[in-house]
Amino acid sequence: MSLEANKIAAAVLVGGLLTLSVGIASHMIYGTPSGSSIAEAGEPGEGAGAAGATQEAAAPVDMMPLIASADPAAGEKAFAKCKACHTSESGGPNRVGPNLWNVVGGHSAHLDNFAYSDAIKGLNITWDFDHLDKFLENPKGYAPGTKMTFAGIKKPEERAALIRWLRDQADSPIALPQ
Ligand code: HEC
Repeated sequence: MSLEANKIAAAVLVGGLLTLSVGIASHMIYGTPSGSSIAEAGEPGEGAGAAGATQEAAAPVDMMPLIASADPAAGEKAFAKCKACHTSESGGPNRVGPNLWNVVGGHSAHLDNFAYSDAIKGLNITWDFDHLDKFLENPKGYAPGTKMTFAGIKKPEERAALIRWLRDQADSPIALPQ
């Protein structure tokens, strides 16, 4: 009986070895299935995802309703990003940047006692909501050469709130957008 069992065991072992070697041989003959993964990688890909994301980022935001309905308290919080360089109260000192009282609705380079760059002096605009929005989104892009080394506020809601609050820092705040 034990001899028979040994024979069976040996047969199973040989069978297993055979299966293994056939497997190795077929591997060597047909190669790994890497061909299919190369084909997949070579696929041009969907691309729609990336294009969609770009479109979303570039979608124009209507800022005026955002500014009109923004919460000034949120804007005051956002002004923390400006405080290193700007004061905002009436008669406040200039720091790295000019005091910003009366700037909304004022002329560009609105103070006589601040040494503006040619970039800001050359703007020759009124700081209305639209100009301020574009400047604060990307100062260097809007006024190339400006001394205001600030990356900008990219979030439309935050920018709107900040502009809404800054508009109140004036002797006679200009009318909000309709
Ligand atoms: C790192 C310092 C710095 C920070 C931060 C900064 N500014 Fe300025 N800002 C300046 C300087 C300097 C100028 C003058 C720019 C020039 O002459 O080119 C300026 C100019 C301005 C002007 C134009 C003023 C005028 O009289 O025409 C506005 C408006 C303004 N900043 C708003 C802001 C707001 C709002 C923030 C916060 C989101 C901010 N700045 C953050 C330094 C800064």
